[in-house]
Amino acid sequence: MSAPRVIRTVAEMRRAVADFRKAAVDSGSVGFVPTMGYLHEGHASLLRRAREENGLVVLSVFVNPLQFGPGEDFERYPRDEKRDLEVAAACGADIAFMPSAAEMYPNPPLARVTVGEITGKLCGRSRPGHFDGVATVVAKLFNIVQPDRAYFGLKDAQQVAVVAQMARDLNIPVEIVPCPTVREPDGLALSSRNVYLNGEERAQATILYRTLERAREWIAAGADADRLRDRMKQSIAESPLADTDYAEVVTWPGLGDPPAGRPLRDLGEPLLVALAVRFGKTRLIDNMIFTPEEVAATCSGK
Ligand code: PAF
Repeated sequence: MSAPRVIRTVAEMRRAVADFRKAAVDSGSVGFVPTMGYLHEGHASLLRRAREENGLVVLSVFVNPLQFGPGEDFERYPRDEKRDLEVAAACGADIAFMPSAAEMYPNPPLARVTVGEITGKLCGRSRPGHFDGVATVVAKLFNIVQPDRAYFGLKDAQQVAVVAQMARDLNIPVEIVPCPTVREPDGLALSSRNVYLNGEERAQATILYRTLERAREWIAAGADADRLRDRMKQSIAESPLADTDYAEVVTWPGLGDPPAGRPLRDLGEPLLVALAVRFGKTRLIDNMIFTPEEVAATCSGK
């Protein structure tokens, strides 16, 4: 596959999409994969899906300072532009939009995008302001790239819900395409932050996946929300290096709180079971979405 065209300015990015749309007759759709780089197989799966479904595929690589809080890992967030371009080429991306912070934020932005209620829980509670930063940069990127479809990994399920809500509320004409989490053979969800883990932490990090698999069984066995949260915390505590930030269950995609005291399996709604766990300075997140059909199948041992 040929190397993608690297674009670093907003003006050139807009021109490239406008030229494509002028020239395109059929399959003239634009597919967009926004990332913060250090691409792994999860990102590659988004790019490949975008390649299958669109005439033009745009990848963006931008480590967005607005979505990092004080003391978080903005400075040390892993970066490798050369490797990112190799992955982008292998997946057939046409354009890699790689703006600088000065290009994206020539002045500290006065306008910000805030997506109410659903950002106040899960990661939003532990990382105040994070989702305003995400929503703001994604709105800017949507305005710059003007994609027909944008592809997001469900490992960041709350981010998918926030971006979809923002696009609906602001009438941004883009289809948000949620894509499955990609995992290592032992279940660990792929993340650019996994490189921070030392050997011992990496070995114990599978507790997130194992706890989510157990959660499926506990829901099928009749746990209510409080019981599920307690059991998940106990499960995570089996790994001595793990420190639970949250172990939560909410409805999907509304992120509503399930009614207290009712078996989750009786709600008849998809559930998002989500975890955030610290290993030393590294905070890992993971989740699974269980549909009522899946829970019923687990109950009947299928
Ligand atoms: O998921 C990410 O990598 C980022 O949050 C995103 C969507 C690229 C916005 O900076």
